[in-house]
Amino acid sequence: MLQKYNPKNENIQVWVGDQLYHRNEAKVSVFDSSVQGGDTVWEGVRVYKEGLLHLDRHIDRMFESAKALAFDHVPTRDFIKNAIKQTLKANGQEENTLIRLTLSRGEKITSGMDPRLNQKGSCLIVLAEWKPLVYDNASGIKVVTSTQRRNGPQFLDSKIHHSNLLNNILAKIQANIAGVDAGIMLDERGFVAELNDTNLFMVKNGKLFTPFANACLHGITRGFVLELAEKNGIPSEERNLSLVDFYNADEVFATGTMGELTPVQEMDGRKIENKSGTNLREELSELMRKARVDHCEKL
Ligand SMILES: Cc1ncc(COP(=O)(O)O)c(C=O)c1O
Repeated sequence: MLQKYNPKNENIQVWVGDQLYHRNEAKVSVFDSSVQGGDTVWEGVRVYKEGLLHLDRHIDRMFESAKALAFDHVPTRDFIKNAIKQTLKANGQEENTLIRLTLSRGEKITSGMDPRLNQKGSCLIVLAEWKPLVYDNASGIKVVTSTQRRNGPQFLDSKIHHSNLLNNILAKIQANIAGVDAGIMLDERGFVAELNDTNLFMVKNGKLFTPFANACLHGITRGFVLELAEKNGIPSEERNLSLVDFYNADEVFATGTMGELTPVQEMDGRKIENKSGTNLREELSELMRKARVDHCEKL
């Protein structure tokens, strides 16, 4: 699956720092920390007609990532919400929009790793693109296992949602070479962590399983699925899961803001065969659709 250029995004306005620019003029300095070291944190936030889904949870996670990286002069929640509001208004976006919300450590006075060189404060970017769900949730995706391991806390804690995405990009390159949609990333012990861009769930005999959030992003959609399962009496468990567990599952699906709940139809060439006839992914998608109005914020 290769995303295509959407001509609706030709003239979008993008927020950089403290104002909006036409996409062709929206730029950061070559001294910006994003260029210098991928030293930024980010969130993907989806806009539905009901509003922005889990906006506060995304901003909370961004603040936690920024604190973990010891960013200075982080904008307030009100500033971020206002920047998003201005951007969506300028682009007339009320649904089918995915916001890439990035906070860079900002511009440096000279190139170098040292955060003390960042003397202008952090820089907020609100890139809101017209972007419906990225994966086709009717047909699903195929995935292969990458040799690239997902970071656990002993290397670079995956709970920091940073833009230094090279390990995930290497996994995606391997998936591209294999002609499939995404790369499965294992943790350092060989248990499944997540896909290069989304979290993973499996269903076996009517029970929902997902890996511990030790070496994967603690995805907001992942959390929402676990929350909805609990509220609706669907048994679920976080545990160490190997590839063999996944190959023999009744259902496997990926979760993320970019694509909601996407069925995985094949892993490493093994078809996912549903022996118990459950359709928990569809049930949970429906529960999400119904609950959305209570979890969205209109700006
Ligand atoms: C590596 C990775 N895993 C999972 C996710 C899904 O997280 P969320 O549900 O918060 O969108 C993302 C989203 O950015 C991601 O980058």
